[in-house]
Amino acid sequence: MMGRGIGRSLLEESLETLATVGIGRVYLEVRVDNKTAIGLYESLGFVKLANLADYYGEGVPGVRMRRVDGSISL
Ligand SMILES: CC(C)(COP(=O)(O)OP(=O)(O)OC[C@H]1O[C@@H](n2cnc3c(N)ncnc32)[C@H](O)[C@@H]1OP(=O)(O)O)[C@@H](O)C(=O)NCCC(=O)NCCS
Repeated sequence: MMGRGIGRSLLEESLETLATVGIGRVYLEVRVDNKTAIGLYESLGFVKLANLADYYGEGVPGVRMRRVDGSISL
């Protein structure tokens, strides 16, 4: 079963809340094999910044992503 939009809604609302207090640059880390989460993040404008070897334990890599809201001056 596909999702019901809860994760997307939570993340969108969080990003909007951050924008209202002037925070437009957001970083996150996620497991490389978490395709669902990475797809969600990419659809909201996050881009991959770096691969993180062993980030979640030996042999379990992560990826760091960043989203920059261009409408907010940093
Ligand atoms: C990743 C997570 C937050 C997504 O939240 P969700 O409520 O399940 O997902 P949503 O219903 O908001 O859907 C978000 C996108 O994920 C994709 N998706 C959701 N469930 C999916 C599934 N079972 N299989 C494939 N893709 C899926 C959809 O493509 C969807 O995109 P769309 O809105 O364009 O259709 C949630 O699955 C989760 O909590 N996972 C476990 C913990 C985790 O991985 N957290 C992230 C750690 S960095």
